[in-house]
Amino acid sequence: MKKITVHLKERSYPILIGRGLLSSLGRLFKTLEVGPKVLVVSNDRVASRFYQTIQNSLKRAGFQALLFKLSHGDERDKSEKILTKLWEAMSRARLDRASAIIALGGGVVGDISAFAASTYMRGIALIQIPTTLLAQVDSAIGGKTAIDLASAKNVVGTFHQPKMVVCDVEALRSLNPREFRNSFAEVVKYGMIRNPKLFRLLEQKGNWFFSSLEKGSFGSPQYRFLETIVSHSIRVKARVVEQDERETKGLRMILNYGHTFGHALESASRFKIPHGEAIATGMILAGELARRIGIFPRKAQDRQVRLIKRICRPVAYSYSANRLLSLMKRDKKSRNGKIRLVLPRAIGKVEVCDRTSDRQIRSVLEGCKKGHEK
Ligand SMILES: NC(=O)c1ccc[n+]([C@@H]2O[C@H](COP(=O)([O-])OP(=O)(O)OC[C@H]3O[C@@H](n4cnc5c(N)ncnc54)[C@H](O)[C@@H]3O)[C@@H](O)[C@H]2O)c1
Ligand SMILES: [Zn+2]
Repeated sequence: MKKITVHLKERSYPILIGRGLLSSLGRLFKTLEVGPKVLVVSNDRVASRFYQTIQNSLKRAGFQALLFKLSHGDERDKSEKILTKLWEAMSRARLDRASAIIALGGGVVGDISAFAASTYMRGIALIQIPTTLLAQVDSAIGGKTAIDLASAKNVVGTFHQPKMVVCDVEALRSLNPREFRNSFAEVVKYGMIRNPKLFRLLEQKGNWFFSSLEKGSFGSPQYRFLETIVSHSIRVKARVVEQDERETKGLRMILNYGHTFGHALESASRFKIPHGEAIATGMILAGELARRIGIFPRKAQDRQVRLIKRICRPVAYSYSANRLLSLMKRDKKSRNGKIRLVLPRAIGKVEVCDRTSDRQIRSVLEGCKKGHEK
């Protein structure tokens, strides 16, 4: 088992990464000052696979576990209506300030559970047990909580750091190749922003991993690979969050690499394009823009494009460049309509840039459209 600590003074917490951690959860929990009542928030698909194991382990350690299942099992669960249901369930279960919420699932479960934990009785303990690759490397860490409005995603939320994050890579076994490819976009992102070694590892082993996944031959080497990439990714995110917990210093923004272009594609498609596919495309676009303005070598961009095409699912889009540009200007990270982009300088190094002109951005969007790509 690997342990990475997020150092945030009194809000510091451990992230545990390993195999078979779910069956020793009770023991891990004993190190926290929570309980005895814990409410596990999950959904049908996830709870049917893992809840029994967790419940048994918690029971053996003297905890009283209750289960609350979200209704839909997808993004629709991040609504104000479901949040109210969850608060009511917490109150019915008579959770008190010593109780804890356990978020068992992907980023959707994590985000709404964290929001509920941060507001119920003005904040109770939260433990994240992420079960998708995206949630393990991204959403479970860093303390951002959120629900969606009908008009915009993730616009209502709080900051609330978890007390512990438990990443059991064996839980990822039941995800399908498309779900894996979707999450790999964020892993490539970490390689691009801060970890060239991770990037190289993906270049060397990405094909092997997906072919074993497709053949169904999944064993110790594949789990070891997952443990390694999850740990590398978490370390990047943890170090950034430690230096800029609330995104006030500009550094946390580098985690948004590929996201300004990506969010525009997601919105233009009315969220038909999955997040990871939009981000994969967004990174290609950011790399191309950086190459054109002369700050990112062509060879590096070629490597980035090759890796993304191999292990993610970039999309061929046909939205007009003007439409995408205006959506980019509405992005949360823009200031007064001025687009601030995270652009690469090298594999493993990015910077925030607000000097690119609309014309340059439009031309990249146009040049990478369906039918125009290289
Ligand atoms: N808080 C943050 O910092 C942050 C960061 C990135 C993304 N997010 C949010 O995360 C969400 C996306 O998360 P996601 O990609 O994990 O999607 P998701 O939570 O919708 O999960 C995808 C699907 O996989 C299922 N699932 C989860 N674990 C499984 C398992 N082990 N086996 C089989 N099925 C499983 C889920 O039930 C769901 O149907 C978005 O709402 C996004 O806004 C938050
Ligand atoms: Zn993302």
